[in-house]
Amino acid sequence: MTQSLADLRSRRWFSASDMRGFAHRQRIQQMGLRREDVLERPIIGIINTWSDLSPCHAHLRERAKSVKRGVLMAGGMPFELPAMSLGEVMVKPTTMLYRNFLAMEVEELLRSLPLDGVVLLAGCDKTTPGTVMGAISAGLPMLFCSAGPMISDRYLKRGEPTRAVGAGTHTRMFWDEYQAGHIDEAEWIGLEAKMTRAPGTCNTMGTASTMTSIIEALGLALPGSTSIPAMDSGHSRMAADCGTRIVQMVWDDLTPAKILTKGSFRNATVAQMALGGSTNAAVHLIALARRAGVNLQLEDLDAIGHEVPVLANLYPSGDKLMEDFHYAGGMPALLNRVRAHLSLDEMTVTGHTLAENIAGRESLDDAVIRPLDHPVSPSGALAVLRGNLAPDGAVMKPSAASPKFFHHRGRALVFDSPAEMNQRCADPELDCDENTVLVLRNAGPVGAPGMPEWGGLPIPKKLLDQGVRDMVRISDARMSGTHYGSCILHVSPEAAVGGPLSLVRDGDEILVDLTSRKLELLVDEAELAARHAARVPPPRTYQRGYIRLYQEHVTQAHEGCDFDFLQGTAPTPQPPIF
Ligand code: FES
Repeated sequence: MTQSLADLRSRRWFSASDMRGFAHRQRIQQMGLRREDVLERPIIGIINTWSDLSPCHAHLRERAKSVKRGVLMAGGMPFELPAMSLGEVMVKPTTMLYRNFLAMEVEELLRSLPLDGVVLLAGCDKTTPGTVMGAISAGLPMLFCSAGPMISDRYLKRGEPTRAVGAGTHTRMFWDEYQAGHIDEAEWIGLEAKMTRAPGTCNTMGTASTMTSIIEALGLALPGSTSIPAMDSGHSRMAADCGTRIVQMVWDDLTPAKILTKGSFRNATVAQMALGGSTNAAVHLIALARRAGVNLQLEDLDAIGHEVPVLANLYPSGDKLMEDFHYAGGMPALLNRVRAHLSLDEMTVTGHTLAENIAGRESLDDAVIRPLDHPVSPSGALAVLRGNLAPDGAVMKPSAASPKFFHHRGRALVFDSPAEMNQRCADPELDCDENTVLVLRNAGPVGAPGMPEWGGLPIPKKLLDQGVRDMVRISDARMSGTHYGSCILHVSPEAAVGGPLSLVRDGDEILVDLTSRKLELLVDEAELAARHAARVPPPRTYQRGYIRLYQEHVTQAHEGCDFDFLQGTAPTPQPPIF
């Protein structure tokens, strides 16, 4: 034990013999608790991102009870604290606009209340990075308890083989089939009740599964915990284990600062690549690293993407679902397969190193966690492109793209907004073919605002009817991790702050070359300079409120889209207690 009862942070509230100490103990007893409940135990916060409009987190109130059970059994005192719930599909314009809001809320909850440690209950795309970013900055011992993926569904159609179907990826596939007339309206409506059968996060390797898995690889979640299906009884037991473990972490003073290093972020990046994870991880990983004072750049991600094969055979890069991944051994088995790429001596929430956590954990199903000599893809979960169209970088997921577009030159067709894009893409006379490069701009962190997942631009209806299912698409937006296609995303700097994407015109030629990592606008420099001089910046629509704060302080995609004033490790004084 490195902390005694007298060392606990919560003592500042509860042990003083003055009038303030009296008031704090008095208010605890107002709730029916005893004064010794807060005087003789570590106080554990349970940050809960449950809400009635967050289906991925619908079970988290129940899980909070399991965490409390674990805390009490280990001699701690639990308090559940609600935090902003960001259900990915319901929140508009995009949950990304509120990731930093959640991070601020978590950080300030932890700082302002009498807490000694925290369990984070989260899992949907932004709730994972949002809660963890805030907890890193708060600096208390913390443990991430993942909401867990939803259970799998099956698609049955007479005369066709039964298919496992998952959230997000198959919605997009069925939508394209419906648009092309291969699915009738009755079947399309019937599909609404499919693919999302039960509470839990999306069961493909979308952003939710990517981020929870990455947090486990970082060392901030119990080994094997993040893939347990939300509705599995093992999920409740895991939540209780989190409650038990966090109490010991408080005694050991095992803070995030003792876990998060350059090496642990390398492990998270290796995991992202071996998983074939979402491109969104590029933004969140950099934001997390900057909170921890670790220098992580897009180039680091690209270099690791070159060397690490995609082994997890999960949608959208493969054809299995998270439930299969769990049965195959989950993250410990995957990490053990790529252990040659890992920094194995990093500390984790278990109090053991990563090497100790994954020792002996073998893949139980090579069809799901592939062997090194039979990967889903030899590399290519993430590639970083640069050039005069993206001086600060852009990202692509080659493993979910069409290889025929890895080297491509085509004419640009430019959309300034999603409304214009949707209207023009429905036009049967739209001037385009499958070699056209679709461009969407004003969809970045400042421009949209919030950098929504608009980067999976729709294939124009005319081309869908011709059987086209993929094209090169470029934007300053993000893309859902459950989607697939030859989409170049996160172009930085974005159009709204004067990035070169703002200079592209219909008919300009664009070159994409994955081998040399190039993204070039083939227009001569004098012409681009003239266009730049004539550029009229878009008006700022938000004059007040949170969104004004967001637009004034959000950083660009290659910097993690955190607020500039939230990055870094400058110490924040503890609240004075008077
Ligand atoms: Fe919540 Fe996909 S919508 S995890």
